[in-house]
Amino acid sequence: MGMTQDELKALVGRAALAHVPPGTVIGVGTGSTVNHFIDALATMREPVAGAVSSSRASTERLVARGIRVLEAGEVERLPVYVDGADEIDGRGFMIKGGGAALTREKIVADLAERFVCIADASKRAEVLGRFPLPVEVIEMALPQVARRFAAIGGQASVREGVRTDNGHPILDVRGLAITDPLALEAEINQWPGVVTVGIFARHRAHLCLLGTPEGVVTLRY
Ligand code: A5P
Repeated sequence: MGMTQDELKALVGRAALAHVPPGTVIGVGTGSTVNHFIDALATMREPVAGAVSSSRASTERLVARGIRVLEAGEVERLPVYVDGADEIDGRGFMIKGGGAALTREKIVADLAERFVCIADASKRAEVLGRFPLPVEVIEMALPQVARRFAAIGGQASVREGVRTDNGHPILDVRGLAITDPLALEAEINQWPGVVTVGIFARHRAHLCLLGTPEGVVTLRY
């Protein structure tokens, strides 16, 4: 019998422990894959000193597992940031934000020397964009940001009933084929009202642990 998607997520969540230096403070992302990582983290024989968390949900889970949570401002650098992705391409560029935590995720990723992505094989994409691109936007700019996306071939819709941990709405943008993630990330970052775009190109993964039915495949970029 094959493994379920959740079993693949648990597999890579545990595999990520090999990339966690004991006794250090690490960055922890958000999502169902990371939840497995947090559970695994709590079982380390030589534990971490603490974690900087990218969401309220992850903070709660870390605290419940007895792991100390620090504010981003309390550290200057992290050896590693472990997080999932909604899509990852062959160069380690990602779409993130399906869980609406993209802004804090990018902030914590920026503190880290290495980004270790943990994902089940369904997240691998040739070209980013089949997963709707999440963008956190200041509310008053929603219509004009949506028009800018329309001008480059994207259909933006407001994620219903969702506010980020920072209190802002999210636009999900369909129909983009993101062939140059670095350039598009830089461009969207210039649009007034955009808080964070869910393209992680400047903050790409250095390593991806991909959960496949044959086991964990390690991809280095
Ligand atoms: C959270 O905002 C996202 O960036 C997550 O990393 C992404 O949605 C992956 O989630 P799962 O691990 O639940 O698939």
